[in-house]
Amino acid sequence: MATSVEGHYGNDGIVERIVGALTQAGHDMDNLDADVLAAADEFHIGGREGTMHVAAAINLGPGDRLLDVGCGIGGAARFLAHSTGASVIGVDLTPEFVNAAIQLSDLVGMGAQVDFEVGSATDLAFDDDSFDAVTMLHVGMNIENKVQMMSELGRVCRSKGVVVVYDVTLMSEHDLPYPMPWSATPEFSFPEPASAYEAAGTEAGLEHVSSSNHYDLALKFFNEPPATPPPVSLGHLMGPRMIEMRDNAAQAINEGLMSPVLMKFVAP
Ligand SMILES: C[S@@+](CC[C@H](N)C(=O)[O-])C[C@H]1O[C@@H](n2cnc3c(N)ncnc32)[C@H](O)[C@@H]1O
Repeated sequence: MATSVEGHYGNDGIVERIVGALTQAGHDMDNLDADVLAAADEFHIGGREGTMHVAAAINLGPGDRLLDVGCGIGGAARFLAHSTGASVIGVDLTPEFVNAAIQLSDLVGMGAQVDFEVGSATDLAFDDDSFDAVTMLHVGMNIENKVQMMSELGRVCRSKGVVVVYDVTLMSEHDLPYPMPWSATPEFSFPEPASAYEAAGTEAGLEHVSSSNHYDLALKFFNEPPATPPPVSLGHLMGPRMIEMRDNAAQAINEGLMSPVLMKFVAP
């Protein structure tokens, strides 16, 4: 059993598994479209559709700088860079994910638009006001101190820049089933209702602008799989244990215990 957050996520051979599955499905590795990775590199409820909601909320363009905190293997960072023209830096606690993010970006020819480094959401290695916007997708469930987390997201964002958090939030006081995709046990699991994030953001000095609950997207994501399965999936990212984690997440969604919520804040 993992003894840390990064120990839960980290595993060897991520890029090899993804490349192997794509090669087997007949994709040309010298001309790979980043979109083909979406079902494996967007590790959040709703996948690409969830990231599109985030893209709509940040409103960036060419020349802007975006930080994606807890970037995983970089799917959202690549999509946000491609769809907005902004340059994107991703930071993540898990070294294996950061290495995979760099390799996959090079593989799809996006190495110049995105950059990745190991780092912690609660102690970001950037100066104040470094970015035009900051995003965080499905990371806060691993972070106990939400005020410190929101304070860091707001600190590195320029004044009046947008901070967007798209996280799994609690809808009920019932216990969640484990393992969950973000933690095998309750030990490294700190999901909260959206109201706790909103209060933490306000306490950290950010202005809370809006929260939108994407429960319908979650129901669709877990209950209506695509007719043709994509060549890669979250199983290629996390290995066989993803099956039980996904089943538990689907159960918690279907029972109304949790839901993904997109929360938008403005930095002071
Ligand atoms: C469920 S994954 C989401 C990855 C990515 N945001 C996405 O949507 O595809 C959660 C990620 O958060 C990272 N993470 C967890 N706690 C973190 C922290 N305190 N600082 C930075 N990254 C963290 C994990 O390493 C993991 O990559």
